[in-house]
Amino acid sequence: LRRRKDLFACGGNDSRNPAVLRGDGAFEAIRLYRGRPFALDEHLERLGRTCHALRLENPARLLREEVDCLLRAAGAVDCCLRIVLTRAGRRILLLEPLPAPRERPLRVCFVTYEPTHVLDGAKSLSYAANMLATRLAIERGFDEALLTNRDGHVLEAPRESFFWVGADGRLRTPPLNEHILASITRQKLLELLEVEQQVCLRRDALSCSEAFLASTGFEVDPIGAIEDHALAAPGPLTRRARAAFDALVREQTDQDAVDPGRRRITTTT
Ligand SMILES: Cc1ncc(COP(=O)(O)O)c(C=O)c1O
Repeated sequence: LRRRKDLFACGGNDSRNPAVLRGDGAFEAIRLYRGRPFALDEHLERLGRTCHALRLENPARLLREEVDCLLRAAGAVDCCLRIVLTRAGRRILLLEPLPAPRERPLRVCFVTYEPTHVLDGAKSLSYAANMLATRLAIERGFDEALLTNRDGHVLEAPRESFFWVGADGRLRTPPLNEHILASITRQKLLELLEVEQQVCLRRDALSCSEAFLASTGFEVDPIGAIEDHALAAPGPLTRRARAAFDALVREQTDQDAVDPGRRRITTTT
């Protein structure tokens, strides 16, 4: 059995870790720009809120030391720092490749999804439903899912926030009381731009003039079609959002001061 590489563990303590057996744990993904973390404090604060919501111990001080140590060792890399806290009190810190940049505007379709209200405010490890939603969208020939609840409210994508522009030309995003994740990219965009927080119905999404997704990994990601509603992408407000976010990242990660010798962590599979 030891020779079977796909057998994770056999009887050891880690194979009984509730994070492995039940997705019971917390995580964060933080983007490093030439080794400088973007919005690290905000991510660690959200991790603290997740721990509180999940009744999980938050080893905040230890974690900060370990993150600082890993960042020093990593050097000027472009990648994601993933932090995982498990119910059994284990910490996992990973430097992982950035998602491959999307070559063309996303084509998204609706996938019905009911948020687990008891997990409001928590970025828990229980992501099987989110990952399945993406697969269901791909099975239908789209790139990504737009999660909509049973009342037809458009919420977010499985790993990104959703923004759209209505017929009146205003940029909007659904409010947090729709049980969506308190996305850090979303919050930054709310601070940078004029954005209204408003419930989005399917018909709003199907009649919008532009739309984009936003997240740590993909930043501002234009949408080229929602179901059969084609959109010129990136539209003017999407470009404005992207430029404002890029400028914030450059300013907060002090890119001008960093050695231009840039390494990108790549997948080795
Ligand atoms: C469900 C969901 N919504 C939105 C986001 C975007 O959040 P952030 O901007 O903090 O990366 C994520 C990120 O993982 C997510 O999982």
